[in-house]
Amino acid sequence: MNLLDVNNLRVNFGTPDGYVTAVNNLNFSLAQGETLGIVGESGSGKSQTAFALMGLLAKNGLVEGEALFEGKNIFGYNEKDMNRVRAEKIAMIFQDPMTSLNPYMKVGKQLMEVLMLHKGYSKADAFEASVKMLDAVKMPEARKRMNMYPHEFSGGMRQRVMIAMALLCQPKLLIADEPTTALDVTVQAQILTLLNELKDEFNTAIIMITHDLGVVAGLCDKVLVMYAGRTMEYGKTNDVFYRPTHPYTKGLLEAIPRLDAEDDVLATIPGNPPNLLNLPTGCPFQARCEHAEARCLEEEPSLTEYEEGKLRACHKPSDWGVAS
Ligand SMILES: Nc1ncnc2c1ncn2[C@@H]1O[C@H](COP(=O)(O)OP(=O)(O)O)[C@@H](O)[C@H]1O
Ligand SMILES: [Mg+2]
Repeated sequence: MNLLDVNNLRVNFGTPDGYVTAVNNLNFSLAQGETLGIVGESGSGKSQTAFALMGLLAKNGLVEGEALFEGKNIFGYNEKDMNRVRAEKIAMIFQDPMTSLNPYMKVGKQLMEVLMLHKGYSKADAFEASVKMLDAVKMPEARKRMNMYPHEFSGGMRQRVMIAMALLCQPKLLIADEPTTALDVTVQAQILTLLNELKDEFNTAIIMITHDLGVVAGLCDKVLVMYAGRTMEYGKTNDVFYRPTHPYTKGLLEAIPRLDAEDDVLATIPGNPPNLLNLPTGCPFQARCEHAEARCLEEEPSLTEYEEGKLRACHKPSDWGVAS
């Protein structure tokens, strides 16, 4: 059985100008210990996918579809049950650790509280377990740092604290929403190495949300490429990375920043994602796609499995040479 099966996930928001479908019919699955990357530019619906799974959508948001976690549809859970899922089963880390850390409380105390509240640990046990977890996330001088406040840590170290806090209750699933975006490239690489080691050590499934396909390459087994709330391409990371079949995926790949790049001018896909309130008929990517044909303006391509385990939504044949 899969750890997580997401079926026909939709997230709609009511706005004064009408309904916005931020997530449109997403399907994906995750086995225990597996890592899925969700990539796409800003506004593609990545965070709303995560918030839907966590039961943390804004009040004007409405979720449809189902999310079977260990076989049970968590979208049917009430607030109390969902609180338990968030405390014990699914943890989330964010781009800015300060959204989750209390600036006025020592880091050690924040970690210990998680264990004392949710796991019934004694103070002494919680202290030792917290030090151990800080060691696990490669925090130098962990014991000493228990006594420090978040502002005394660098951005990368704060993100390590967040990861430690997320892993304390041994969640089955960790959702990381752009956890390295605010960090410089070197620290970003260190955090990714850490996540890679932790997923082996704790066998935690991970959903890694990022706008950067490079982040996915070293960490994820599978990748889902999102645009305007939809799946553009979905498959094993190696397939998608080395043989992208969707023009949007190819555009994202060309925009990957490189450590060895001589200049730091980023290639980006020209143009902007469409306004969700005013989507064109046909393919949502048409306006920015250099390969768009008449058909792409009229008919939305459906997501089809063109080879086992490989899905794409594009009218061009899968072997038309985008990868070359
Ligand atoms: N509370 C809200 N009300 C209306 N629309 C929203 C709300 N939250 C998000 N959206 C819409 O959902 C889109 C996708 O958001 P999001 O999932 O945060 O994108 P990203 O891929 O950058 O994480 C946004 O561009 C916005 O149009
Ligand atoms: Mg986001």
